[in-house]
Amino acid sequence: MRLLVTGGLGFIGSHFIRWALAQDPAVTVVNLDAQTYAGDPANLADVDPARYTWIRGDIRDPEAVARAFAAGVDAVVHCAAESHVDRSLLSAEACLTTNVLGTQVLLDAARTHGVRRFVHVSTDEVYGALAPDEPPATEAHALAPRSPYAASKAAADLLVGAAVATWNLPAVITRGTNTYGPFQHPEKFIPLFITHALEGRDLPLYGDGLQIRDWLHVTDHVAAIWTVLERGRVGAVYNIGARNEQPNRAVAERICALLGVDPARIRSVADRPGHDRRYALDPTRLETELGWRPRVPFAEGLAETVRWYATHRAWWERRRDATFWTYYRQQYGERLRP
Ligand code: TYD
Repeated sequence: MRLLVTGGLGFIGSHFIRWALAQDPAVTVVNLDAQTYAGDPANLADVDPARYTWIRGDIRDPEAVARAFAAGVDAVVHCAAESHVDRSLLSAEACLTTNVLGTQVLLDAARTHGVRRFVHVSTDEVYGALAPDEPPATEAHALAPRSPYAASKAAADLLVGAAVATWNLPAVITRGTNTYGPFQHPEKFIPLFITHALEGRDLPLYGDGLQIRDWLHVTDHVAAIWTVLERGRVGAVYNIGARNEQPNRAVAERICALLGVDPARIRSVADRPGHDRRYALDPTRLETELGWRPRVPFAEGLAETVRWYATHRAWWERRRDATFWTYYRQQYGERLRP
């Protein structure tokens, strides 16, 4: 199977490529990735170059996409996205052009080339915020995104649905919950808090820290994408959730405990505007139809992730270049000022 993975230098994309190559010796991968701030070729330094090719290109560019399809593609796994909510609040443009227009460029190419399967990797954020007493969202939950990032992903999901309806494109959508593990960019909550704790900085907890997320280990997430690629029903949506709802403050406290850092380092800072109170997904469809189960208990996954960041300092220090610190000052400058 010749797989085209988009965004394969990123967090979930690189884990997915490693997973796919390990599942089946007949798999080869073309990775179309623009190498934005969030991508790093070092994430895939260990894969067999005979079975893996990186094409540097942007999914918004039809010529780059055509190059990626040129050698023949059986299936597409579309991971490329601008995925950070806080950045989408500073400027929505990259989210809209990459996540929405880029997805349409790929759908058009997938249609032209007659792929056997197109997996669109989406997010729980498209369902919007859940009330504390609401059951976890099923795939039938209304789309009610509340940030530019979430709105762009919801728009992309609808475009995928339109491609299935109008051209019979054999597409499937996955919606994963908050994902964590090695190789995640240090701007995201768990890596940000781990790296800050390692450096003796304060940990900037938004608002009261009682927002709830369902944390999914990245290997469970990519195993689910692989399962959906192989056996998902065309036109279906599959929620990927770990049934692991945690308030942010509890996650922050676990990180402090794992690193022996004083929890007084956790600092309540100004909340994110429109901060979604709770995300939670019901993964019953994926479990009952396709037999997927999350395997990594949160305590183990978090401990292993903390160890990975503690022992891969050069990796995350490299991700924090001048551009990162410009973003960081914009994002945290006022919040962290005493
Ligand atoms: P994030 O990783 O940005 O994912 P999302 O907002 O898409 O769920 O953040 C996870 C949670 O952590 C979210 O509720 C916001 C919160 N958070 C903080 O409290 N402080 C931070 O510095 C960051 C980046 C996130």
